Amino acid sequence: MGVAEVINQSNTPVSIEVRKFDPQATQNAPEYFHGNDPFKSHFMNALSILFPEGERFFIRSVLAYRDQIGDPKLLSEIKEFCAQEAQHTLVHEAMNDLAARHGYPVEKLESWVRRDLRRFSKRGKTSPWARRAALAMTVCMEHFTAILAYQVLTDSEVTAKGLDPSVKALFEWHALEETEHKGVAFDVYQATNGSAFFLRFAMLWATLFFLLGLFVNLTVLLFKDGSIGKWSTWKTGIQFVFGPRHGFLVRPFKDWLAFFKPGFHPWKQHKDLDIESNTQSIGAYLVPAVS
Ligand SMILES: [Fe+2]
Ligand SMILES: [Fe+2]
Repeated sequence: MGVAEVINQSNTPVSIEVRKFDPQATQNAPEYFHGNDPFKSHFMNALSILFPEGERFFIRSVLAYRDQIGDPKLLSEIKEFCAQEAQHTLVHEAMNDLAARHGYPVEKLESWVRRDLRRFSKRGKTSPWARRAALAMTVCMEHFTAILAYQVLTDSEVTAKGLDPSVKALFEWHALEETEHKGVAFDVYQATNGSAFFLRFAMLWATLFFLLGLFVNLTVLLFKDGSIGKWSTWKTGIQFVFGPRHGFLVRPFKDWLAFFKPGFHPWKQHKDLDIESNTQSIGAYLVPAVS
């Protein structure tokens, strides 16, 4: 089938809107912006440090397949996906600069991710296998961000209790945009005949890399401020991440497993999430559109 004959490759049921979050909004947040707690604050910093280079990689990986897409709706969604991810990159860089100003080795941590992901994308320019693997990893990481986004948007009383309002708004803004574009990379993968088996295999690797990156960042940050050896750090930390009912990585586990079900698509999950109601709390932090 020629590209021109292909229609309805998109399965996204919502419109994808690019909102500009003010990068300066978080610049007055305290060092321990999450309930004055080093573990919780550095857990959010560790995630934020992964985002800029990760999202640049997602953009490159999806754009590498744009010329194989025929559906005008999916083409438009690819554009919005890239614009949203570019905004996330800018705003998380500003948040990471704040951590750097507090003396944390942010640039060093980012440079490790940057080196590996740029190398991966470079290989994709000459190797179809590497190009396909990069897109598969992007689909998997987008599933990760979508299920963590659901956690942020539906359990914020627990996961964000005591969180500085500007950082809370930043994570909610990112979460709702991740929700809007959660099906785009998946649809590009399917539309270009990506293998479902390979995608599940990639998910195991993506999970390993994501958790490893998060753990390395968190360990370095806690080591740097001297709180790594304190029992109080780990007591709240274990509850925050692995708490049986609301742990940051516990509740999303069921959603992670769903990825392996036959016929899975990101939009088969959490159709009940009301994106519109979640936009109200972030309004004060958005840069007004120039008319
Ligand atoms: Fe993002
Ligand atoms: Fe994303």
